[in-house]
Amino acid sequence: MAQEFGGIWTAKKLAVLEDYLQFYTTALKDQPFILHYVDAFAGAGEHSPAGTADQHTLIPHENLIGSVETALALDHPFDHYHFNDIDPVLIAELERIKSKHSDKQIEICEKDANVFVPEFCNTMSPADRAVLLLDPFSTQLDWKTLTPVRNTEKIDLWLLFPISVITRMTPRDGNKTKPEWKQTLDRLLGTNDWEQALYKPVIQTNDLFDDNAVNTEQRINVDELENWVTNRLKELFSFVAKPVLLKNNNRPLFLFYFAVSNPSPNAWGLAQRATSYIVDKYNSG
Ligand SMILES: C[S@@+](CC[C@H](N)C(=O)[O-])C[C@H]1O[C@@H](n2cnc3c(N)ncnc32)[C@H](O)[C@@H]1O
Repeated sequence: MAQEFGGIWTAKKLAVLEDYLQFYTTALKDQPFILHYVDAFAGAGEHSPAGTADQHTLIPHENLIGSVETALALDHPFDHYHFNDIDPVLIAELERIKSKHSDKQIEICEKDANVFVPEFCNTMSPADRAVLLLDPFSTQLDWKTLTPVRNTEKIDLWLLFPISVITRMTPRDGNKTKPEWKQTLDRLLGTNDWEQALYKPVIQTNDLFDDNAVNTEQRINVDELENWVTNRLKELFSFVAKPVLLKNNNRPLFLFYFAVSNPSPNAWGLAQRATSYIVDKYNSG
C-alpha cells in the first residue's frame, strides 16, 4: 500500500536519511554497542510522490520506499528496529512489513509519538545507541519531547521541522496572528516567548518627521527564523548541523535537522564530518 503524500522534498529527505544510516551502521558495526533505529512517525513504508511532471523527471524512481523500508534495507542492519505510528491502518501495514523481515528484531507501537519517544528513551541501557527519526506531517511533535532525547546522551536525531507552518501561522504583519494558533505555536516551539523573538517593531512612515508614523510589528524573515530555531536546538543538543532545506516550487517547506545528544566532542566529531558532507551535498543539489 502506498501512502499518498510527499513530493520531491520527500525523495531528498529519504536520500539524506539513507546516506546517514549507511554511514552510522558502517562506522559503528565493530563497536560493542547495541544499535537501535527508532522511527516515531513511521508511516506505511512507501510513498507515491506527488508533484509536477517536471519534478518527477528529477526522481529516479517514482514509487519511493519510505523511511521504514530504507532502514530495513541497509548494508549493515541495526540490531533493533522500533516503528511507531498513531494510525491503526498503518500499524497493520507495518505488521505486514515486519512479517517479511523475520530475520530482524522489529517492535511496533501504536502511540502518540510524544508518549512513545520518552518511553523509548527510558528503556535505553549504557550499551545502547540509537538513531531517532522524528518525521511528522506538520505540527504533531511537541518541542518538550526533545528533552528526554537529549537526556539519553546516546541518540543521534534527524528532525523534520515544519518551517512553512510557522511562517503561515505567524504572518509578516504581527497584528494578523490568530489567537487560536498561539497554543499550537507554544507547543511546537516549546516556549510562549516566541512572539518577542519572532516579531520586531517597525515604524511605517514616508517621512522622518511624519506625525502619522504607525508603529507595527513585523515577523523576521525565513533565514532569521531558521537561525532562531537552530539556536533553540543548540540550547538542547551539543551538536546541531546546518539543516537540509526541503522546498516545494522554491518555497521553504521543512528544515531537516541533525542533532547529537552525546555531549562528548569525541562522540560527535565523526558524525559532524559525515553530516556536513551530506548536508552540503543535498543543499547544493
Ligand atoms: C510524514 S509521515 C511519515 C513518513 C515516513 N517517515 C516515511 O518516510 O515513510 C507522518 C506519519 O506520522 C503519523 N502520525 C501523525 N500524528 C502522529 C502522532 N501524534 N504520533 C505518531 N504518529 C503520528 C501519520 O500517521 C504518518 O504516518
